[in-house]
Amino acid sequence: MKNSKIAGIGYYVPDKIYTNDDLSKFMDTSDEWITERTGIKERRFAEKHKETSSTMGTRAAQMAIDNAGINKEDIDFIVFATLSADYYFPGAGVLLQRQLGITHLEAPALDIRNQCSGFVYGLSVADQYIKTGKYKNILLVGAEMHSMGMDFTTNGRSVSVIFGDGAGAVVLQPTEEEGRGILTTHIHSNGTHAEELAMINPGSHGGVWLGTEKFGYPDAEEMGGVFVTQKMLDDGLLAPNMTGQLVFKTAVKKFPEVINAALYEVGLTSKDISLFIPHQANLRISQFVQKLLKLEDSQVYNNIQKYGNTTAASIPIALYEAFEEGKIKDGDLICLAAFGSGFTWGSALIRW
Ligand code: UT7
Repeated sequence: MKNSKIAGIGYYVPDKIYTNDDLSKFMDTSDEWITERTGIKERRFAEKHKETSSTMGTRAAQMAIDNAGINKEDIDFIVFATLSADYYFPGAGVLLQRQLGITHLEAPALDIRNQCSGFVYGLSVADQYIKTGKYKNILLVGAEMHSMGMDFTTNGRSVSVIFGDGAGAVVLQPTEEEGRGILTTHIHSNGTHAEELAMINPGSHGGVWLGTEKFGYPDAEEMGGVFVTQKMLDDGLLAPNMTGQLVFKTAVKKFPEVINAALYEVGLTSKDISLFIPHQANLRISQFVQKLLKLEDSQVYNNIQKYGNTTAASIPIALYEAFEEGKIKDGDLICLAAFGSGFTWGSALIRW
C-alpha cells in the first residue's frame, strides 16, 4: 500500500482584524486577560453575508489545488471539516464543490463534524482511501466562520474571545517513496462530556432531552419539542458553551497520550519530531504539551496569537504558514495533533 503525501497546501483568512482591545468595546474583557490566559492578540472575522465557511474553504482549496500543480477537475474526493457549516444541512462539502465549479464530475463530498479534531480526522479518513488505492487526489478542507454564531456580550466572553474565522486546505496524493508521507494517524473520542464544549441548539433534541439535566427548555417541552424556542433565543442559548477548565485539563492529558502512541507505533520519540503543529486551541495548552513532550521552542509552531482558535482550520492554516516560512523541509518529521469538542482527539505523523 502506498502512503499518502500532502501535495499542496492553501489557506484563507478574512481581511478584517479584531484585536483584543476591539473586543473589549463589546464586552467586559481586556487585552491583559486574553493574552495571559490564551496567548491570543488578534483574530479575523469574516464579512457577514458575503463570506461563509464554504466560501472561505473554497479559496483555501483553490490555493491548495494550485500549489499541488493539479487541476480542480482532478479532485476525486472532497472532505470538508467544519462545525460552522453554511447550512444545518446539506453539508459544506457540496457547496464547495459547486463553488469550485466541479459539480459535473459528481465526485463524493464528505462532511466531518469533529470540531477541533476535524482536520486530523479528515486526514485519517483521506489516508485510508489513498492507501487502498480508491482515490488519487483528495481535497481536505477545514473552514470555520465562528463570528456568526458567538455571543459577543459579556455573557459569552469566555468563549467568544478565543475563536476566529479562517480556512485551510490540503491536497493528498499517493507517494511513490517508501517511508514518506503520512506514517500513521490515531483518532479517538469519548462522549462522556459531550455537552461541556458544545452548541446544542438547534438540534433534534428539540429542547426536551439531552441525556443531561443541565440544559432544559420547558417551553420546548410544552410545544412538543422544536428546534428553536423563544426561550432559547431569550437566554442567548444559540451560542456555544464551554467548561474551559475541564477542556483544558483533558486536552493536556490527551495531546501527549495520542502523540506518544503515534511515535511508539513508528518506533520514534519526541526528539525525532522536526516540527509539532498543534491545533491552535490556547497557547497555554500548546506550551504545556510542549513541556510534557520535552520539545524545544524550535520544534513547535504556533500562530494562535494572530488568528485565535479557528477550530478545524487551525492546523492547515498553521501548516501553510510554517511551510511558507521554510520551517518544513524534505525529510522532516511533522507531528499534527488536536483535541476538542466531543471530546475527540487525534494525531498524525508525516515524513515530509
Ligand atoms: O479548541 C478546543 C476548545 N477549547 C479549548 O481548548 C479551551 C480550553 N480552556 C481554556 O482555554 C481556558 O479555560 C479559558 C481561556 C477558556 C478560560 O481560562 P481560565 O483560566 O480557565 O479562566 P476561568 O474560566 O476559570 O475564568 C476565570 C475568571 C472568571 O471570573 P471569576 O469567576 O474568577 O470572577 C471568569 O468570569 O475569568 C473570567 N473571565 C473573563 N474575564 C475577562 C472569563 N472570560 C473572561 C474574559 N475576559 N474574556
